[in-house]
Amino acid sequence: MSTPEPSDRPLAWSEARRLFPVTERWTYLDHAAVCPISTPVYEAMAEHLQDVLTDGDTNSARWDAKVSRARASAARLLGCRPAEVAFLKNTSEGLNLVARGLAWRPGDNVVSAQGEFPANVYPWMSLAPQGVQLRMVPEREGRLRYRDIRDAIDSRTRVLALSFVEFLSGFRNDVARLGELCRKRGVLFVLDAIQGLGALRLDVVEAGVDFAAADAHKWLLGPEGSALFYCRRERLDLLESAPVGWASVRGFRDYLAYDLTLRPEAARFELGTANTVGVVGLGAAVELLLSVGIERMERRIKALTDRLCRGLERLGAEVLSSRRRGEWSGIVSFRLPGVDAKQAAQVLRRRRIALSLRSGWLRVSPHFYNSEEEIDRLLEVLKEG
Ligand SMILES: Cc1ncc(COP(=O)(O)O)c(C=O)c1O
Repeated sequence: MSTPEPSDRPLAWSEARRLFPVTERWTYLDHAAVCPISTPVYEAMAEHLQDVLTDGDTNSARWDAKVSRARASAARLLGCRPAEVAFLKNTSEGLNLVARGLAWRPGDNVVSAQGEFPANVYPWMSLAPQGVQLRMVPEREGRLRYRDIRDAIDSRTRVLALSFVEFLSGFRNDVARLGELCRKRGVLFVLDAIQGLGALRLDVVEAGVDFAAADAHKWLLGPEGSALFYCRRERLDLLESAPVGWASVRGFRDYLAYDLTLRPEAARFELGTANTVGVVGLGAAVELLLSVGIERMERRIKALTDRLCRGLERLGAEVLSSRRRGEWSGIVSFRLPGVDAKQAAQVLRRRRIALSLRSGWLRVSPHFYNSEEEIDRLLEVLKEG
Protein backbone atom coordinates (compact mmCIF):
# COMPACT_ATOMS: atom_id res chain seq x y z
CA MET A 1 0.00 0.00 0.00
CA SER A 2 2.20 2.81 -1.23
CA THR A 3 1.66 6.50 -0.58
CA PRO A 4 -0.47 8.13 -3.26
CA GLU A 5 1.32 10.75 -5.32
CA PRO A 6 0.50 14.33 -4.33
CA SER A 7 -0.98 14.92 -7.78
CA ASP A 8 -3.58 12.17 -7.35
CA ARG A 9 -7.08 13.09 -6.27
CA PRO A 10 -7.13 13.86 -2.54
CA LEU A 11 -7.63 10.89 -0.27
CA ALA A 12 -11.10 10.57 1.20
CA TRP A 13 -11.00 10.59 5.01
CA SER A 14 -12.36 7.07 5.14
CA GLU A 15 -9.58 5.87 2.82
CA ALA A 16 -6.94 7.74 4.81
CA ARG A 17 -8.26 6.18 7.97
CA ARG A 18 -7.66 2.71 6.56
CA LEU A 19 -3.95 3.53 6.34
CA PHE A 20 -3.87 3.56 10.17
CA PRO A 21 -4.39 0.06 11.57
CA VAL A 22 -4.29 1.55 15.08
CA THR A 23 -7.92 2.57 14.47
CA GLU A 24 -8.94 -1.10 14.64
CA ARG A 25 -7.82 -1.35 18.25
CA TRP A 26 -7.83 2.13 19.72
CA THR A 27 -9.53 5.46 19.71
CA TYR A 28 -6.16 7.07 19.39
CA LEU A 29 -6.23 10.72 20.39
CA ASP A 30 -2.66 11.15 21.57
CA HIS A 31 -0.56 12.53 18.74
CA ALA A 32 0.97 15.15 21.02
CA ALA A 33 2.62 12.22 22.84
CA VAL A 34 3.69 9.51 20.39
CA CYS A 35 1.83 8.80 17.16
CA PRO A 36 1.05 5.45 15.61
CA ILE A 37 2.65 4.99 12.19
CA SER A 38 0.66 4.35 9.02
CA THR A 39 0.89 1.35 6.72
CA PRO A 40 2.92 3.27 4.08
CA VAL A 41 5.49 4.25 6.72
CA TYR A 42 5.65 0.73 8.06
CA GLU A 43 6.07 -0.70 4.56
CA ALA A 44 8.77 1.77 3.55
CA MET A 45 10.78 0.93 6.67
CA ALA A 46 10.18 -2.80 6.33
CA GLU A 47 11.30 -2.69 2.70
CA HIS A 48 14.50 -0.96 3.72
CA LEU A 49 15.20 -3.49 6.47
CA GLN A 50 14.49 -6.32 4.05
CA ASP A 51 17.05 -4.82 1.70
CA VAL A 52 19.70 -4.75 4.45
CA LEU A 53 18.70 -8.25 5.51
CA THR A 54 19.15 -9.79 2.11
CA ASP A 55 21.75 -7.59 0.41
CA GLY A 56 23.84 -5.86 3.03
CA ASP A 57 24.90 -2.46 1.73
CA THR A 58 25.19 -3.45 -1.92
CA ASN A 59 22.16 -1.30 -2.72
CA SER A 60 23.54 1.72 -0.91
CA ALA A 61 23.12 3.95 -3.99
CA ARG A 62 19.40 3.28 -3.67
CA TRP A 63 19.51 4.21 0.02
CA ASP A 64 21.18 7.52 -0.86
CA ALA A 65 18.40 8.18 -3.35
CA LYS A 66 15.81 7.48 -0.65
CA VAL A 67 17.49 9.88 1.75
CA SER A 68 17.62 12.56 -0.97
CA ARG A 69 13.94 12.01 -1.70
CA ALA A 70 13.11 12.33 2.00
CA ARG A 71 15.11 15.55 2.16
CA ALA A 72 13.24 16.97 -0.81
CA SER A 73 9.88 16.05 0.78
CA ALA A 74 10.89 17.55 4.11
CA ALA A 75 11.91 20.76 2.35
CA ARG A 76 8.55 20.91 0.60
CA LEU A 77 6.79 20.51 3.91
CA LEU A 78 8.84 23.27 5.54
CA GLY A 79 8.89 25.60 2.53
CA CYS A 80 12.69 25.66 2.32
CA ARG A 81 15.46 24.21 0.17
CA PRO A 82 16.63 20.60 0.56
CA ALA A 83 20.12 21.94 1.35
CA GLU A 84 18.64 23.60 4.44
CA VAL A 85 17.41 20.31 5.94
CA ALA A 86 19.41 17.91 8.10
CA PHE A 87 18.22 14.60 9.53
CA LEU A 88 19.02 14.30 13.20
CA LYS A 89 18.18 12.01 16.05
CA ASN A 90 15.52 14.11 17.75
CA THR A 91 14.31 17.64 18.46
CA SER A 92 16.69 17.99 21.39
CA GLU A 93 19.70 17.38 19.19
CA GLY A 94 18.62 20.18 16.85
CA LEU A 95 18.05 22.65 19.68
CA ASN A 96 21.40 21.72 21.22
CA LEU A 97 23.16 22.23 17.92
CA VAL A 98 22.06 25.83 17.98
CA ALA A 99 22.65 26.41 21.70
CA ARG A 100 26.10 24.82 21.59
CA GLY A 101 26.98 25.99 18.09
CA LEU A 102 26.59 29.74 18.46
CA ALA A 103 29.46 31.88 19.71
CA TRP A 104 28.17 33.50 22.91
CA ARG A 105 29.45 36.51 24.77
CA PRO A 106 28.95 36.98 28.51
CA GLY A 107 25.88 39.15 29.02
CA ASP A 108 23.97 37.70 26.04
CA ASN A 109 20.48 36.45 26.71
CA VAL A 110 17.95 34.03 25.29
CA VAL A 111 14.22 34.70 25.49
CA SER A 112 11.92 31.73 25.94
CA ALA A 113 8.70 31.10 27.85
CA GLN A 114 7.22 29.44 30.87
CA GLY A 115 5.41 26.27 29.94
CA GLU A 116 7.94 25.27 27.29
CA PHE A 117 8.75 21.58 27.11
CA PRO A 118 12.15 21.05 28.81
CA ALA A 119 13.75 20.05 25.49
CA ASN A 120 13.69 23.75 24.70
CA VAL A 121 14.77 24.92 28.15
CA TYR A 122 17.80 22.94 29.30
CA PRO A 123 19.99 23.60 26.25
CA TRP A 124 19.66 27.35 26.93
CA MET A 125 19.86 27.01 30.70
CA SER A 126 23.10 25.11 30.30
CA LEU A 127 24.73 28.23 28.86
CA ALA A 128 24.72 29.97 32.25
CA PRO A 129 28.42 29.20 32.90
CA GLN A 130 29.17 31.18 29.72
CA GLY A 131 27.33 34.18 31.16
CA VAL A 132 24.19 33.67 29.04
CA GLN A 133 20.91 34.49 30.76
CA LEU A 134 17.68 32.64 30.02
CA ARG A 135 14.57 34.82 30.27
CA MET A 136 11.25 33.08 30.65
CA VAL A 137 8.26 35.09 29.52
CA PRO A 138 5.22 34.36 31.72
CA GLU A 139 2.41 32.16 30.50
CA ARG A 140 -0.97 33.73 31.26
CA GLU A 141 -3.97 31.42 31.39
CA GLY A 142 -2.54 29.11 28.79
CA ARG A 143 -1.43 31.89 26.43
CA LEU A 144 1.80 33.67 25.61
CA ARG A 145 1.38 37.35 24.87
CA TYR A 146 3.25 38.95 22.01
CA ARG A 147 3.73 42.04 24.16
CA ASP A 148 5.48 40.07 26.91
CA ILE A 149 7.82 38.47 24.40
CA ARG A 150 8.57 41.79 22.74
CA ASP A 151 9.27 43.45 26.07
CA ALA A 152 11.65 40.68 27.18
CA ILE A 153 13.89 41.30 24.16
CA ASP A 154 16.68 43.83 24.60
CA SER A 155 19.91 44.77 22.86
CA ARG A 156 21.69 41.69 24.27
CA THR A 157 19.07 39.18 23.14
CA ARG A 158 20.61 36.76 20.66
CA VAL A 159 17.88 34.13 20.41
CA LEU A 160 14.13 33.78 20.76
CA ALA A 161 13.54 30.08 21.45
CA LEU A 162 9.89 29.05 21.36
CA SER A 163 7.62 26.21 20.45
CA PHE A 164 5.41 26.48 17.41
CA VAL A 165 2.67 24.97 19.62
CA GLU A 166 3.03 24.72 23.41
CA PHE A 167 2.94 21.09 24.51
CA LEU A 168 0.52 21.42 27.42
CA SER A 169 -1.78 24.33 26.61
CA GLY A 170 -1.71 23.75 22.85
CA PHE A 171 -1.28 27.49 22.38
CA ARG A 172 -0.05 28.26 18.87
CA ASN A 173 2.49 31.04 18.74
CA ASP A 174 2.11 33.57 15.94
CA VAL A 175 5.32 32.62 14.20
CA ALA A 176 4.97 35.13 11.37
CA ARG A 177 4.63 38.03 13.78
CA LEU A 178 7.41 36.78 16.02
CA GLY A 179 9.66 36.17 13.02
CA GLU A 180 9.10 39.75 11.95
CA LEU A 181 9.92 40.96 15.46
CA CYS A 182 13.15 38.92 15.46
CA ARG A 183 14.13 40.26 12.07
CA LYS A 184 13.62 43.85 13.22
CA ARG A 185 15.53 43.35 16.44
CA GLY A 186 18.39 41.29 14.99
CA VAL A 187 17.44 38.23 17.05
CA LEU A 188 17.73 34.62 15.84
CA PHE A 189 14.40 32.79 15.83
CA VAL A 190 14.67 29.16 16.97
CA LEU A 191 11.53 27.08 16.70
CA ASP A 192 10.76 23.82 18.45
CA ALA A 193 8.26 22.76 15.81
CA ILE A 194 7.37 19.28 17.05
CA GLN A 195 3.88 20.04 18.37
CA GLY A 196 2.63 21.62 15.17
CA LEU A 197 4.62 20.50 12.16
CA GLY A 198 2.60 17.93 10.27
CA ALA A 199 -0.73 19.18 11.59
CA LEU A 200 -0.55 22.90 10.91
CA ARG A 201 0.88 24.81 8.01
CA LEU A 202 4.36 26.14 8.65
CA ASP A 203 6.47 27.93 6.07
CA VAL A 204 9.78 28.58 7.77
CA VAL A 205 10.93 31.10 5.17
CA GLU A 206 7.70 33.09 5.24
CA ALA A 207 7.75 33.01 9.06
CA GLY A 208 11.35 34.22 9.25
CA VAL A 209 12.48 31.21 11.26
CA ASP A 210 16.26 30.75 11.42
CA PHE A 211 16.40 27.24 12.93
CA ALA A 212 13.67 24.67 13.51
CA ALA A 213 13.64 21.13 14.83
CA ALA A 214 10.98 18.44 15.07
CA ASP A 215 11.10 14.73 15.68
CA ALA A 216 8.85 12.55 13.53
CA HIS A 217 7.01 10.79 16.33
CA LYS A 218 4.14 13.19 16.90
CA TRP A 219 2.21 15.12 14.23
CA LEU A 220 4.47 14.02 11.39
CA LEU A 221 3.18 10.48 11.92
CA GLY A 222 6.63 8.98 11.59
CA PRO A 223 8.95 6.85 13.71
CA GLU A 224 10.62 7.84 16.95
CA GLY A 225 14.21 9.04 16.95
CA SER A 226 14.22 10.49 13.44
CA ALA A 227 14.04 14.26 13.26
CA LEU A 228 14.09 17.17 10.85
CA PHE A 229 16.34 20.13 11.43
CA TYR A 230 16.02 23.31 9.41
CA CYS A 231 18.93 25.72 9.24
CA ARG A 232 18.48 28.81 7.12
CA ARG A 233 21.27 28.87 4.57
CA GLU A 234 22.59 32.24 5.71
CA ARG A 235 22.89 30.90 9.27
CA LEU A 236 24.93 27.77 8.53
CA ASP A 237 28.26 29.24 9.49
CA LEU A 238 26.87 30.90 12.60
CA LEU A 239 26.93 27.49 14.28
CA GLU A 240 30.68 27.66 14.44
CA SER A 241 31.15 25.46 17.48
CA ALA A 242 28.82 22.72 16.22
CA PRO A 243 30.38 19.26 16.23
CA VAL A 244 31.95 17.93 13.06
CA GLY A 245 32.35 14.41 11.74
CA TRP A 246 33.64 12.66 8.67
CA ALA A 247 30.41 13.39 6.75
CA SER A 248 30.49 17.10 7.65
CA VAL A 249 33.10 17.99 5.05
CA ARG A 250 32.80 18.80 1.38
CA GLY A 251 34.96 15.89 0.22
CA PHE A 252 33.60 13.35 2.68
CA ARG A 253 33.99 10.41 0.29
CA ASP A 254 37.73 11.07 0.06
CA TYR A 255 38.50 9.56 3.44
CA LEU A 256 42.19 10.39 3.70
CA ALA A 257 42.06 13.96 2.39
CA TYR A 258 41.69 15.40 5.93
CA ASP A 259 40.38 18.64 4.51
CA LEU A 260 38.08 20.33 7.01
CA THR A 261 36.21 22.44 4.48
CA LEU A 262 32.62 22.06 5.62
CA ARG A 263 29.77 21.08 3.31
CA PRO A 264 27.71 24.11 2.32
CA GLU A 265 24.52 22.32 3.42
CA ALA A 266 22.71 21.60 6.65
CA ALA A 267 23.65 17.95 6.14
CA ARG A 268 27.02 18.90 7.64
CA PHE A 269 25.32 18.53 11.03
CA GLU A 270 24.55 14.86 10.39
CA LEU A 271 28.23 14.10 11.11
CA GLY A 272 28.38 10.45 10.08
CA THR A 273 26.34 7.42 9.08
CA ALA A 274 22.63 8.11 8.74
CA ASN A 275 19.81 6.38 10.57
CA THR A 276 18.63 5.34 7.12
CA VAL A 277 15.63 3.29 8.21
CA GLY A 278 14.47 6.20 10.38
CA VAL A 279 14.92 8.70 7.57
CA VAL A 280 13.08 6.42 5.16
CA GLY A 281 10.20 6.25 7.66
CA LEU A 282 10.21 10.00 8.14
CA GLY A 283 10.28 10.52 4.37
CA ALA A 284 7.30 8.22 3.83
CA ALA A 285 5.41 9.96 6.64
CA VAL A 286 5.98 13.40 5.13
CA GLU A 287 4.93 12.14 1.71
CA LEU A 288 1.67 10.89 3.14
CA LEU A 289 1.00 14.27 4.76
CA LEU A 290 1.78 16.08 1.52
CA SER A 291 -0.49 13.77 -0.43
CA VAL A 292 -3.37 14.49 1.95
CA GLY A 293 -2.61 18.22 1.86
CA ILE A 294 -1.54 20.20 4.93
CA GLU A 295 -4.22 22.86 4.69
CA ARG A 296 -6.94 20.29 4.20
CA MET A 297 -5.63 18.38 7.17
CA GLU A 298 -5.47 21.51 9.28
CA ARG A 299 -9.14 22.23 8.55
CA ARG A 300 -10.00 18.67 9.48
CA ILE A 301 -8.14 18.89 12.81
CA LYS A 302 -9.91 22.19 13.49
CA ALA A 303 -13.30 20.57 12.85
CA LEU A 304 -12.50 17.62 15.14
CA THR A 305 -11.17 19.77 17.98
CA ASP A 306 -14.11 22.22 17.63
CA ARG A 307 -16.49 19.29 17.99
CA LEU A 308 -14.57 18.15 21.05
CA CYS A 309 -14.65 21.61 22.62
CA ARG A 310 -18.39 21.96 22.04
CA GLY A 311 -18.90 18.63 23.79
CA LEU A 312 -16.57 19.59 26.63
CA GLU A 313 -18.50 22.80 27.13
CA ARG A 314 -21.71 20.77 27.51
CA LEU A 315 -19.93 18.71 30.16
CA GLY A 316 -18.90 21.87 32.03
CA ALA A 317 -15.18 21.25 31.47
CA GLU A 318 -12.50 23.84 32.06
CA VAL A 319 -10.55 24.07 28.82
CA LEU A 320 -6.99 25.37 29.08
CA SER A 321 -6.37 25.56 25.35
CA SER A 322 -7.07 28.79 23.54
CA ARG A 323 -9.49 28.34 20.68
CA ARG A 324 -9.06 31.86 19.38
CA ARG A 325 -8.27 32.45 15.73
CA GLY A 326 -4.59 31.81 15.06
CA GLU A 327 -4.06 30.39 18.57
CA TRP A 328 -5.82 27.02 18.39
CA SER A 329 -3.97 23.80 17.53
CA GLY A 330 -4.55 20.05 17.55
CA ILE A 331 -4.07 19.98 21.32
CA VAL A 332 -7.01 20.41 23.69
CA SER A 333 -6.24 20.18 27.41
CA PHE A 334 -9.06 20.23 29.92
CA ARG A 335 -10.28 19.10 33.31
CA LEU A 336 -13.71 18.27 34.59
CA PRO A 337 -14.96 19.72 37.85
CA GLY A 338 -14.99 17.18 40.64
CA VAL A 339 -13.29 14.55 38.48
CA ASP A 340 -9.89 13.12 39.36
CA ALA A 341 -7.97 13.48 36.09
CA LYS A 342 -5.67 10.57 36.84
CA GLN A 343 -8.58 8.24 37.46
CA ALA A 344 -10.36 9.51 34.36
CA ALA A 345 -7.24 8.81 32.29
CA GLN A 346 -7.15 5.25 33.65
CA VAL A 347 -10.83 4.68 32.87
CA LEU A 348 -10.32 5.99 29.34
CA ARG A 349 -7.31 3.76 28.81
CA ARG A 350 -9.35 0.74 29.90
CA ARG A 351 -11.98 1.75 27.35
CA ARG A 352 -9.21 1.84 24.75
CA ILE A 353 -9.13 5.58 24.34
CA ALA A 354 -5.56 6.89 24.23
CA LEU A 355 -4.86 10.39 25.49
CA SER A 356 -2.41 11.92 27.96
CA LEU A 357 -2.43 13.21 31.47
CA ARG A 358 -0.13 16.22 31.78
CA SER A 359 0.23 18.29 34.96
CA GLY A 360 -3.30 17.43 36.09
CA TRP A 361 -4.86 18.14 32.68
CA LEU A 362 -6.31 15.62 30.26
CA ARG A 363 -4.72 16.31 26.90
CA VAL A 364 -6.46 15.22 23.72
CA SER A 365 -4.72 15.48 20.37
CA PRO A 366 -6.54 14.06 17.34
CA HIS A 367 -5.00 13.88 13.88
CA PHE A 368 -6.65 14.08 10.48
CA TYR A 369 -7.55 10.38 10.25
CA ASN A 370 -9.56 10.41 13.47
CA SER A 371 -13.33 10.49 13.09
CA GLU A 372 -16.23 12.46 14.53
CA GLU A 373 -17.49 9.19 16.01
CA GLU A 374 -14.27 8.81 17.97
CA ILE A 375 -14.62 12.31 19.42
CA ASP A 376 -18.21 11.51 20.37
CA ARG A 377 -17.11 8.25 21.94
CA LEU A 378 -14.60 10.07 24.12
CA LEU A 379 -17.27 12.55 25.19
CA GLU A 380 -19.67 9.71 25.92
CA VAL A 381 -17.16 7.91 28.17
CA LEU A 382 -16.33 11.18 29.95
CA LYS A 383 -20.04 11.75 30.53
CA GLU A 384 -20.49 8.29 31.97
CA GLY A 385 -17.61 9.09 34.35
C1 LIG B 1 7.47 20.85 22.65
C2 LIG B 1 8.26 19.58 22.65
N1 LIG B 1 9.55 19.60 22.29
C3 LIG B 1 10.29 18.48 22.24
C4 LIG B 1 9.76 17.26 22.60
C5 LIG B 1 10.55 16.01 22.52
O1 LIG B 1 11.86 16.23 22.12
P1 LIG B 1 12.73 15.07 21.48
O2 LIG B 1 12.31 14.93 20.05
O3 LIG B 1 14.12 15.55 21.62
O4 LIG B 1 12.46 13.84 22.27
C6 LIG B 1 8.43 17.20 23.02
C7 LIG B 1 7.87 15.88 23.44
O5 LIG B 1 7.00 15.71 24.17
C8 LIG B 1 7.67 18.38 23.04
O6 LIG B 1 6.39 18.36 23.41
